[in-house]
Amino acid sequence: MRLPEGLSRDDIVRFERTHVWPPYTSSERHASHDPLVVVGAEGSWLLDADGRRYLDAVSSWWSCTLGHDPPRLRAAVRAQLDQLIHVAAGGITHAPVALLAKELAEIAPAGLVRTHFSDDGSTAVEVAIKMAFQYWQQNGRPRRHRFLALSGAYHGDTLGAASLASLEEFSGVFGPLLFEIVRPPSPDEPGGWARVVETIEQTLRTRRDEIAGVVVEPLIQGAAGMKMHPPEVLQRLRACTHEIDTFLIADEVFTGYGRTGRMWAVDHAGIAPDLLCLAKGFTAGILPMAATMATARVHDGFRGSADRALMHGHTFCGHPLGAAVAREVLSIYRDERIVEGVAPRAARIERVFHDRISSIPGVRRVRTLGMVGAADLGESGYRGERGPAVQDAARRLGLYLRPLGDTVYVTPALDIDLACLEQLLDGVEEALRACAP
Ligand SMILES: Cc1ncc(COP(=O)(O)O)c(C=O)c1O
Repeated sequence: MRLPEGLSRDDIVRFERTHVWPPYTSSERHASHDPLVVVGAEGSWLLDADGRRYLDAVSSWWSCTLGHDPPRLRAAVRAQLDQLIHVAAGGITHAPVALLAKELAEIAPAGLVRTHFSDDGSTAVEVAIKMAFQYWQQNGRPRRHRFLALSGAYHGDTLGAASLASLEEFSGVFGPLLFEIVRPPSPDEPGGWARVVETIEQTLRTRRDEIAGVVVEPLIQGAAGMKMHPPEVLQRLRACTHEIDTFLIADEVFTGYGRTGRMWAVDHAGIAPDLLCLAKGFTAGILPMAATMATARVHDGFRGSADRALMHGHTFCGHPLGAAVAREVLSIYRDERIVEGVAPRAARIERVFHDRISSIPGVRRVRTLGMVGAADLGESGYRGERGPAVQDAARRLGLYLRPLGDTVYVTPALDIDLACLEQLLDGVEEALRACAP
Protein backbone atom coordinates (compact mmCIF):
# COMPACT_ATOMS: atom_id res chain seq x y z
CA MET A 1 0.00 0.00 0.00
CA ARG A 2 1.39 3.37 -0.91
CA LEU A 3 0.47 6.90 -1.92
CA PRO A 4 -1.08 7.58 -5.32
CA GLU A 5 1.45 7.88 -8.13
CA GLY A 6 3.60 11.01 -8.08
CA LEU A 7 2.56 12.13 -4.59
CA SER A 8 4.98 12.31 -1.70
CA ARG A 9 4.18 12.27 1.99
CA ASP A 10 5.26 15.91 2.17
CA ASP A 11 2.74 16.84 -0.54
CA ILE A 12 -0.07 15.30 1.48
CA VAL A 13 0.97 17.10 4.65
CA ARG A 14 1.31 20.40 2.78
CA PHE A 15 -2.15 20.13 1.13
CA GLU A 16 -3.64 19.07 4.46
CA ARG A 17 -2.08 21.99 6.35
CA THR A 18 -3.12 24.47 3.67
CA HIS A 19 -6.65 23.32 2.89
CA VAL A 20 -8.11 20.95 5.48
CA TRP A 21 -9.96 22.25 8.51
CA PRO A 22 -9.59 19.36 10.96
CA PRO A 23 -11.82 18.62 13.97
CA TYR A 24 -10.92 19.70 17.50
CA THR A 25 -7.46 21.04 16.52
CA SER A 26 -6.12 24.53 17.10
CA SER A 27 -4.72 26.19 13.99
CA GLU A 28 -1.37 26.49 15.76
CA ARG A 29 -1.20 22.76 16.38
CA HIS A 30 -2.48 21.99 12.91
CA ALA A 31 0.25 24.10 11.34
CA SER A 32 3.06 22.45 13.28
CA HIS A 33 1.86 18.95 14.11
CA ASP A 34 3.26 16.11 12.03
CA PRO A 35 0.19 13.96 11.29
CA LEU A 36 0.15 10.24 10.72
CA VAL A 37 -0.31 9.90 6.98
CA VAL A 38 -2.17 6.62 6.74
CA VAL A 39 -2.14 4.68 3.48
CA GLY A 40 -3.79 1.51 4.68
CA ALA A 41 -5.38 -0.16 7.69
CA GLU A 42 -5.98 -3.79 8.44
CA GLY A 43 -7.13 -5.51 11.62
CA SER A 44 -5.74 -3.48 14.51
CA TRP A 45 -2.96 -1.96 12.41
CA LEU A 46 -2.54 1.38 10.68
CA LEU A 47 0.11 1.62 7.97
CA ASP A 48 1.70 5.00 7.30
CA ALA A 49 3.28 6.49 4.19
CA ASP A 50 6.78 5.64 5.43
CA GLY A 51 5.89 1.98 5.78
CA ARG A 52 5.65 2.06 9.59
CA ARG A 53 2.91 0.12 11.35
CA TYR A 54 0.94 1.39 14.35
CA LEU A 55 -1.38 -0.55 16.60
CA ASP A 56 -4.67 1.35 16.78
CA ALA A 57 -5.51 1.38 20.48
CA VAL A 58 -8.70 3.42 20.02
CA SER A 59 -10.33 1.78 16.97
CA SER A 60 -10.83 4.98 15.01
CA TRP A 61 -12.65 6.93 17.71
CA TRP A 62 -14.23 3.79 19.17
CA SER A 63 -15.97 2.75 15.99
CA CYS A 64 -14.03 -0.13 14.38
CA THR A 65 -15.36 -2.83 16.68
CA LEU A 66 -14.23 -5.49 14.18
CA GLY A 67 -10.86 -3.92 13.39
CA HIS A 68 -9.97 -2.10 10.20
CA ASP A 69 -11.16 -3.27 6.84
CA PRO A 70 -12.70 -6.66 7.76
CA PRO A 71 -12.85 -8.74 4.56
CA ARG A 72 -16.52 -9.64 5.05
CA LEU A 73 -17.52 -5.98 5.28
CA ARG A 74 -15.44 -5.11 2.24
CA ALA A 75 -17.24 -7.90 0.37
CA ALA A 76 -20.63 -6.64 1.59
CA VAL A 77 -19.89 -3.17 0.20
CA ARG A 78 -18.79 -4.66 -3.13
CA ALA A 79 -21.87 -6.85 -3.43
CA GLN A 80 -24.19 -3.93 -2.64
CA LEU A 81 -22.29 -1.65 -5.07
CA ASP A 82 -23.14 -4.09 -7.84
CA GLN A 83 -26.81 -4.08 -6.85
CA LEU A 84 -27.88 -0.55 -5.89
CA ILE A 85 -25.73 2.31 -4.64
CA HIS A 86 -28.25 4.85 -3.43
CA VAL A 87 -31.76 6.21 -3.75
CA ALA A 88 -33.29 8.66 -1.29
CA ALA A 89 -35.96 7.39 1.09
CA GLY A 90 -38.90 9.56 -0.09
CA GLY A 91 -41.62 7.00 -0.75
CA ILE A 92 -38.97 4.42 -1.69
CA THR A 93 -37.58 1.44 0.16
CA HIS A 94 -35.17 -1.37 -0.63
CA ALA A 95 -34.17 -4.74 0.75
CA PRO A 96 -31.04 -3.69 2.71
CA VAL A 97 -32.89 -1.14 4.82
CA ALA A 98 -36.10 -3.14 5.32
CA LEU A 99 -34.18 -6.27 6.33
CA LEU A 100 -31.83 -4.32 8.58
CA ALA A 101 -34.75 -2.72 10.43
CA LYS A 102 -36.31 -6.15 10.97
CA GLU A 103 -33.04 -7.66 12.19
CA LEU A 104 -32.40 -4.75 14.55
CA ALA A 105 -35.85 -5.18 16.09
CA GLU A 106 -34.95 -8.83 16.79
CA ILE A 107 -31.77 -8.06 18.71
CA ALA A 108 -32.44 -4.65 20.28
CA PRO A 109 -33.40 -4.28 23.95
CA ALA A 110 -37.02 -5.34 24.50
CA GLY A 111 -39.72 -3.31 22.82
CA LEU A 112 -37.55 -1.29 20.40
CA VAL A 113 -39.21 -2.20 17.14
CA ARG A 114 -38.96 0.88 14.92
CA THR A 115 -35.80 2.35 13.41
CA HIS A 116 -35.16 5.76 11.89
CA PHE A 117 -31.91 5.74 9.94
CA SER A 118 -29.52 8.68 9.71
CA ASP A 119 -25.83 9.41 9.31
CA ASP A 120 -23.85 9.80 12.54
CA GLY A 121 -24.09 9.59 16.29
CA SER A 122 -24.93 13.25 16.81
CA THR A 123 -27.84 12.96 14.42
CA ALA A 124 -29.06 9.75 16.02
CA VAL A 125 -29.31 11.67 19.31
CA GLU A 126 -30.78 14.75 17.65
CA VAL A 127 -33.54 12.55 16.18
CA ALA A 128 -34.23 10.87 19.53
CA ILE A 129 -34.81 14.18 21.31
CA LYS A 130 -36.96 15.46 18.46
CA MET A 131 -39.04 12.28 18.62
CA ALA A 132 -39.51 12.64 22.37
CA PHE A 133 -40.32 16.34 22.12
CA GLN A 134 -42.78 15.99 19.25
CA TYR A 135 -44.40 12.98 20.91
CA TRP A 136 -45.38 15.01 23.96
CA GLN A 137 -46.38 18.03 21.85
CA GLN A 138 -49.02 16.00 20.05
CA ASN A 139 -50.02 13.60 22.78
CA GLY A 140 -51.43 15.81 25.44
CA ARG A 141 -48.32 17.02 27.33
CA PRO A 142 -47.19 20.12 25.39
CA ARG A 143 -45.40 21.59 28.42
CA ARG A 144 -42.92 18.73 28.31
CA HIS A 145 -40.13 20.51 26.51
CA ARG A 146 -37.10 20.02 28.76
CA PHE A 147 -34.55 17.22 28.78
CA LEU A 148 -32.56 16.02 31.74
CA ALA A 149 -28.99 15.01 30.94
CA LEU A 150 -26.14 14.05 33.22
CA SER A 151 -23.18 16.05 34.30
CA GLY A 152 -20.24 14.89 32.16
CA ALA A 153 -22.57 14.05 29.28
CA TYR A 154 -21.45 14.14 25.67
CA HIS A 155 -23.90 13.30 22.90
CA GLY A 156 -22.38 14.85 19.78
CA ASP A 157 -21.65 18.21 18.22
CA THR A 158 -24.81 19.29 16.40
CA LEU A 159 -26.65 21.98 18.36
CA GLY A 160 -29.33 19.77 19.89
CA ALA A 161 -26.85 17.10 20.90
CA ALA A 162 -24.45 19.79 22.10
CA SER A 163 -27.19 21.24 24.31
CA LEU A 164 -27.35 17.93 26.15
CA ALA A 165 -23.59 17.93 26.71
CA SER A 166 -22.12 19.35 29.86
CA LEU A 167 -18.54 19.39 28.62
CA GLU A 168 -17.56 23.03 28.54
CA GLU A 169 -14.65 22.30 26.19
CA PHE A 170 -16.94 21.05 23.43
CA SER A 171 -20.00 23.23 23.66
CA GLY A 172 -19.16 26.15 25.98
CA VAL A 173 -18.56 28.65 23.20
CA PHE A 174 -21.96 27.86 21.68
CA GLY A 175 -23.78 28.51 24.96
CA PRO A 176 -26.08 31.25 23.63
CA LEU A 177 -27.28 28.94 20.84
CA LEU A 178 -28.08 25.96 23.04
CA PHE A 179 -31.33 25.10 24.78
CA GLU A 180 -31.60 24.79 28.51
CA ILE A 181 -31.06 21.38 30.08
CA VAL A 182 -32.07 20.14 33.50
CA ARG A 183 -28.77 19.04 35.00
CA PRO A 184 -28.28 17.06 38.22
CA PRO A 185 -25.09 17.57 40.27
CA SER A 186 -21.80 16.00 39.27
CA PRO A 187 -20.96 12.56 40.69
CA ASP A 188 -17.58 14.07 41.59
CA GLU A 189 -19.30 16.23 44.22
CA PRO A 190 -19.87 14.89 47.77
CA GLY A 191 -22.54 12.19 47.76
CA GLY A 192 -21.38 10.76 44.42
CA TRP A 193 -23.80 8.80 42.24
CA ALA A 194 -26.24 8.21 45.11
CA ARG A 195 -26.81 11.96 45.35
CA VAL A 196 -27.04 12.31 41.56
CA VAL A 197 -29.76 9.68 41.35
CA GLU A 198 -31.69 11.04 44.35
CA THR A 199 -31.63 14.51 42.82
CA ILE A 200 -32.90 13.15 39.51
CA GLU A 201 -35.72 11.29 41.25
CA GLN A 202 -36.78 14.42 43.15
CA THR A 203 -36.46 16.63 40.08
CA LEU A 204 -38.59 14.33 37.96
CA ARG A 205 -41.28 14.26 40.66
CA THR A 206 -41.39 18.03 41.04
CA ARG A 207 -41.02 18.84 37.34
CA ARG A 208 -43.02 15.93 35.91
CA ASP A 209 -45.01 18.25 33.65
CA GLU A 210 -41.86 19.57 31.98
CA ILE A 211 -39.53 16.63 31.39
CA ALA A 212 -39.75 15.20 27.88
CA GLY A 213 -36.99 12.69 28.52
CA VAL A 214 -33.88 11.67 30.42
CA VAL A 215 -30.80 11.12 28.25
CA VAL A 216 -27.93 8.90 29.37
CA GLU A 217 -24.75 7.29 28.05
CA PRO A 218 -25.25 3.95 29.78
CA LEU A 219 -22.39 2.84 32.07
CA ILE A 220 -19.59 4.84 30.42
CA GLN A 221 -19.42 8.55 29.68
CA GLY A 222 -16.83 8.29 26.93
CA ALA A 223 -15.83 11.83 26.03
CA ALA A 224 -15.93 12.91 29.68
CA GLY A 225 -12.87 10.70 30.16
CA MET A 226 -14.28 7.15 30.23
CA LYS A 227 -16.15 7.90 33.48
CA MET A 228 -18.10 4.87 34.66
CA HIS A 229 -21.19 4.34 36.78
CA PRO A 230 -22.78 1.16 38.13
CA PRO A 231 -25.81 -0.52 36.45
CA GLU A 232 -27.97 0.45 39.45
CA VAL A 233 -27.88 4.05 38.20
CA LEU A 234 -29.60 2.90 35.02
CA GLN A 235 -32.13 0.82 36.96
CA ARG A 236 -33.05 3.84 39.07
CA LEU A 237 -33.30 6.09 36.00
CA ARG A 238 -35.58 3.54 34.38
CA ALA A 239 -37.72 3.29 37.50
CA CYS A 240 -38.15 7.04 37.97
CA THR A 241 -38.83 7.71 34.28
CA HIS A 242 -41.49 4.99 34.45
CA GLU A 243 -42.89 6.53 37.63
CA ILE A 244 -43.62 9.86 35.95
CA ASP A 245 -44.20 8.23 32.56
CA THR A 246 -41.53 10.01 30.59
CA PHE A 247 -38.93 8.70 28.16
CA LEU A 248 -35.55 7.20 28.89
CA ILE A 249 -33.19 7.81 25.97
CA ALA A 250 -30.09 5.60 25.89
CA ASP A 251 -27.23 6.92 23.80
CA GLU A 252 -25.33 3.73 22.98
CA VAL A 253 -23.35 5.31 20.16
CA PHE A 254 -20.18 4.33 22.02
CA THR A 255 -21.30 1.63 24.45
CA GLY A 256 -23.42 -0.42 22.03
CA TYR A 257 -22.30 -3.39 19.96
CA GLY A 258 -20.50 -5.19 22.75
CA ARG A 259 -18.07 -2.50 23.89
CA THR A 260 -18.95 -3.09 27.56
CA GLY A 261 -19.04 -6.88 27.32
CA ARG A 262 -22.77 -7.17 26.62
CA MET A 263 -24.39 -6.33 23.30
CA TRP A 264 -25.99 -3.25 24.86
CA ALA A 265 -24.74 -1.51 27.98
CA VAL A 266 -28.34 -1.37 29.24
CA ASP A 267 -28.28 -5.21 29.30
CA HIS A 268 -26.03 -5.02 32.38
CA ALA A 269 -28.92 -3.36 34.19
CA GLY A 270 -31.65 -5.56 32.70
CA ILE A 271 -33.56 -2.53 31.43
CA ALA A 272 -34.76 -1.29 28.06
CA PRO A 273 -35.04 2.39 27.11
CA ASP A 274 -37.83 4.01 25.09
CA LEU A 275 -35.36 5.35 22.55
CA LEU A 276 -31.93 3.98 21.64
CA CYS A 277 -29.24 5.82 19.65
CA LEU A 278 -26.72 3.82 17.62
CA ALA A 279 -23.76 4.74 15.40
CA LYS A 280 -20.01 3.92 15.36
CA GLY A 281 -20.17 0.11 15.86
CA PHE A 282 -23.43 0.11 13.91
CA THR A 283 -21.37 -0.21 10.71
CA ALA A 284 -18.24 -1.28 12.61
CA GLY A 285 -16.82 2.12 11.69
CA ILE A 286 -16.83 1.36 7.98
CA LEU A 287 -19.47 3.78 6.67
CA PRO A 288 -21.27 6.78 8.15
CA MET A 289 -24.67 5.50 9.18
CA ALA A 290 -26.65 5.70 12.40
CA ALA A 291 -29.98 4.68 13.85
CA THR A 292 -32.53 5.84 16.38
CA MET A 293 -34.71 2.99 17.61
CA ALA A 294 -38.09 3.57 19.25
CA THR A 295 -40.79 1.56 20.96
CA ALA A 296 -44.17 0.94 19.37
CA ARG A 297 -45.65 3.37 21.88
CA VAL A 298 -43.39 6.22 20.74
CA HIS A 299 -44.11 5.41 17.11
CA ASP A 300 -47.86 5.17 17.74
CA GLY A 301 -47.74 8.76 18.99
CA PHE A 302 -47.06 9.85 15.43
CA ARG A 303 -50.04 8.09 13.86
CA GLY A 304 -52.86 10.14 12.39
CA SER A 305 -52.96 13.16 10.12
CA ALA A 306 -50.01 14.40 8.06
CA ASP A 307 -49.13 17.12 10.56
CA ARG A 308 -48.35 14.41 13.15
CA ALA A 309 -45.52 12.89 11.07
CA LEU A 310 -41.96 13.00 12.41
CA MET A 311 -40.56 16.12 10.79
CA HIS A 312 -37.01 14.98 10.34
CA GLY A 313 -35.13 13.41 7.44
CA HIS A 314 -31.89 13.42 5.51
CA THR A 315 -30.90 12.84 1.89
CA PHE A 316 -28.96 9.75 2.92
CA CYS A 317 -31.47 8.22 5.37
CA GLY A 318 -31.09 4.44 5.11
CA HIS A 319 -28.25 4.40 2.60
CA PRO A 320 -28.15 0.97 0.90
CA LEU A 321 -24.37 0.63 1.24
CA GLY A 322 -24.47 1.46 4.94
CA ALA A 323 -27.47 -0.81 5.49
CA ALA A 324 -25.76 -3.72 3.72
CA VAL A 325 -22.71 -3.24 5.92
CA ALA A 326 -24.79 -2.91 9.10
CA ARG A 327 -26.53 -6.21 8.24
CA GLU A 328 -23.20 -7.91 7.65
CA VAL A 329 -21.95 -6.56 10.99
CA LEU A 330 -24.86 -8.33 12.69
CA SER A 331 -24.06 -11.57 10.82
CA ILE A 332 -20.42 -11.38 11.86
CA TYR A 333 -21.45 -10.78 15.47
CA ARG A 334 -23.66 -13.90 15.24
CA ASP A 335 -21.27 -16.18 13.31
CA GLU A 336 -18.12 -15.22 15.16
CA ARG A 337 -19.71 -14.77 18.58
CA ILE A 338 -18.05 -11.39 18.90
CA VAL A 339 -19.65 -10.35 22.19
CA GLU A 340 -18.85 -13.71 23.82
CA GLY A 341 -15.22 -13.18 22.78
CA VAL A 342 -14.96 -9.99 24.83
CA ALA A 343 -14.68 -11.68 28.26
CA PRO A 344 -11.11 -13.09 27.96
CA ARG A 345 -9.85 -9.89 26.34
CA ALA A 346 -11.61 -7.70 28.91
CA ALA A 347 -10.05 -9.78 31.71
CA ARG A 348 -6.62 -9.07 30.25
CA ILE A 349 -7.29 -5.31 30.00
CA GLU A 350 -8.58 -5.31 33.57
CA ARG A 351 -5.53 -7.18 34.89
CA VAL A 352 -2.96 -4.99 33.13
CA PHE A 353 -4.65 -1.72 34.12
CA HIS A 354 -5.16 -2.74 37.73
CA ASP A 355 -1.94 -4.71 38.34
CA ARG A 356 0.61 -2.83 36.26
CA ILE A 357 -0.62 0.52 35.03
CA SER A 358 -2.17 1.70 38.29
CA SER A 359 1.22 1.64 40.05
CA ILE A 360 3.09 3.73 37.45
CA PRO A 361 4.14 7.07 39.00
CA GLY A 362 1.78 9.82 37.87
CA VAL A 363 -1.21 7.51 37.33
CA ARG A 364 -3.90 8.65 39.76
CA ARG A 365 -6.58 6.06 39.12
CA VAL A 366 -7.57 3.40 36.63
CA ARG A 367 -10.87 1.82 35.62
CA THR A 368 -11.96 -0.80 33.13
CA LEU A 369 -15.16 -2.26 31.74
CA GLY A 370 -15.37 -4.66 28.81
CA MET A 371 -13.10 -3.46 26.02
CA VAL A 372 -12.35 -0.15 27.72
CA GLY A 373 -9.42 0.63 29.99
CA ALA A 374 -8.63 4.14 31.24
CA ALA A 375 -5.98 5.79 33.39
CA ASP A 376 -6.21 9.36 34.73
CA LEU A 377 -2.93 11.25 34.92
CA GLY A 378 -4.25 14.49 36.32
CA GLU A 379 -7.35 16.50 37.06
CA SER A 380 -7.07 19.02 34.22
CA GLY A 381 -9.67 17.25 32.09
CA TYR A 382 -9.80 17.58 28.35
CA ARG A 383 -7.20 20.31 28.14
CA GLY A 384 -4.63 18.43 30.24
CA GLU A 385 -1.12 18.27 28.77
CA ARG A 386 0.05 14.95 30.19
CA GLY A 387 -2.09 12.75 27.94
CA PRO A 388 -0.73 14.28 24.71
CA ALA A 389 2.84 13.65 25.94
CA VAL A 390 1.94 9.97 26.38
CA GLN A 391 0.37 10.00 22.92
CA ASP A 392 3.67 11.21 21.40
CA ALA A 393 5.66 8.60 23.33
CA ALA A 394 3.24 5.89 22.18
CA ARG A 395 3.63 6.95 18.58
CA ARG A 396 7.39 6.50 18.81
CA LEU A 397 6.66 2.95 20.03
CA GLY A 398 4.35 2.17 17.09
CA LEU A 399 1.10 2.64 18.98
CA TYR A 400 -1.72 5.03 18.09
CA LEU A 401 -3.37 6.55 21.18
CA ARG A 402 -5.65 9.55 21.38
CA PRO A 403 -6.04 10.53 25.03
CA LEU A 404 -8.90 12.67 26.27
CA GLY A 405 -6.71 15.32 27.87
CA ASP A 406 -5.12 13.68 30.89
CA THR A 407 -7.10 10.47 30.51
CA VAL A 408 -5.21 7.83 28.56
CA TYR A 409 -7.47 5.02 27.43
CA VAL A 410 -7.70 2.00 25.18
CA THR A 411 -10.76 0.90 23.21
CA PRO A 412 -9.39 -1.84 20.96
CA ALA A 413 -11.31 -3.83 18.38
CA LEU A 414 -13.55 -6.36 20.12
CA ASP A 415 -11.99 -9.24 18.18
CA ILE A 416 -8.37 -8.11 18.50
CA ASP A 417 -6.15 -11.18 18.66
CA LEU A 418 -4.66 -11.84 22.04
CA ALA A 419 -1.05 -11.38 20.96
CA CYS A 420 -1.88 -7.94 19.52
CA LEU A 421 -3.76 -7.04 22.68
CA GLU A 422 -0.71 -7.95 24.80
CA GLN A 423 1.49 -5.85 22.53
CA LEU A 424 -0.96 -2.95 22.76
CA LEU A 425 -1.17 -3.08 26.56
CA ASP A 426 2.63 -3.41 26.86
CA GLY A 427 2.92 -0.34 24.62
CA VAL A 428 0.54 1.71 26.77
CA GLU A 429 2.47 0.72 29.88
CA GLU A 430 5.80 1.60 28.28
CA ALA A 431 4.54 4.98 27.03
CA LEU A 432 3.16 5.82 30.48
CA ARG A 433 6.43 4.83 32.14
CA ALA A 434 8.38 6.90 29.63
CA CYS A 435 6.34 9.97 30.68
CA ALA A 436 6.22 9.28 34.41
CA PRO A 437 7.15 12.38 36.47
C1 LIG B 1 -22.02 8.77 23.41
C2 LIG B 1 -21.84 9.50 22.11
N1 LIG B 1 -22.92 10.02 21.50
C3 LIG B 1 -22.82 10.66 20.34
C4 LIG B 1 -21.60 10.83 19.72
C5 LIG B 1 -21.50 11.57 18.43
O1 LIG B 1 -21.24 10.67 17.38
P1 LIG B 1 -20.69 11.22 16.00
O2 LIG B 1 -19.28 11.63 16.22
O3 LIG B 1 -20.81 10.04 15.08
O4 LIG B 1 -21.56 12.35 15.59
C6 LIG B 1 -20.45 10.32 20.32
C7 LIG B 1 -19.14 10.49 19.70
O5 LIG B 1 -18.11 10.20 20.23
C8 LIG B 1 -20.58 9.64 21.56
O6 LIG B 1 -19.53 9.13 22.20
